Amino acid sequence: MRMPMIAGNWKLHKTRAEAAELINGLKSELAGLAGVEVVVAPPFTALETAAAALAGSGILLAAQNCYPEPTGAFTGEVSPLLLKDAGCRYVIVGHSERRQLFGESDEFINRKVHALVRDGLGVILCIGETLEEREADRMFDVLRRQVRHGLKGLAPEAMAGVVVAYEPVWAIGTGKTATDEQAQEAHAFVRALLREQFGPDVADATRILYGGSVKPGNVDGLMTQPDVDGALVGGASLKTEEFARIARFQPA
Ligand code: PGA
Repeated sequence: MRMPMIAGNWKLHKTRAEAAELINGLKSELAGLAGVEVVVAPPFTALETAAAALAGSGILLAAQNCYPEPTGAFTGEVSPLLLKDAGCRYVIVGHSERRQLFGESDEFINRKVHALVRDGLGVILCIGETLEEREADRMFDVLRRQVRHGLKGLAPEAMAGVVVAYEPVWAIGTGKTATDEQAQEAHAFVRALLREQFGPDVADATRILYGGSVKPGNVDGLMTQPDVDGALVGGASLKTEEFARIARFQPA
């Protein structure tokens, strides 16, 4: 009942020309693919080019970040409405790189979630523990805090526009994927948190993506897990064949 999502987070990669080339490759590799929502998140400067290249393809556009205010004196920032105007359907918030490198708090991320819901954009909320937190047995506390605070104050109906991405920080860009069992354990826990916070219907309907070194070689096992509803892909989303194979995952 949950439509799988495969989303590519391009991070700080791709000029406009490179973005168009990657998208054109994906369009031909993924032509006719059904039953999965495919999303790409280029850097801000390539969004307009990407939107034009994606037109009519069924692949959806996302941004990697936003600021929670609609307009104003916020030099260097981009609002949900500007991203919607550029053709975005989703915005990634709370990525661990933004939490770690740019000091983003759960409270600030929550403001972004509310701004996106208000302006009719889909949210991909990233959560996940560091290796230190996992080894200190704090993983569940960290996930609980990030889910509770990140989604604080949302009405259950608003959750229809929210996707959660579980991305263990130790698996991002390291080539160390969580095992299928580790991913399933965390996803089941996150779904239980959603049940407590929003009730069973929302918990059953909300997609929970796994992220962290997802590759063609491990996506099938991950997607076989009952609570893994898709993937947020970094490095492998920059290569047409790799991302296309991930989007064409084959669960056992
Ligand atoms: P990775 O990145 O696939 O390169 O590990 C995932 C992410 O940061 O979303």
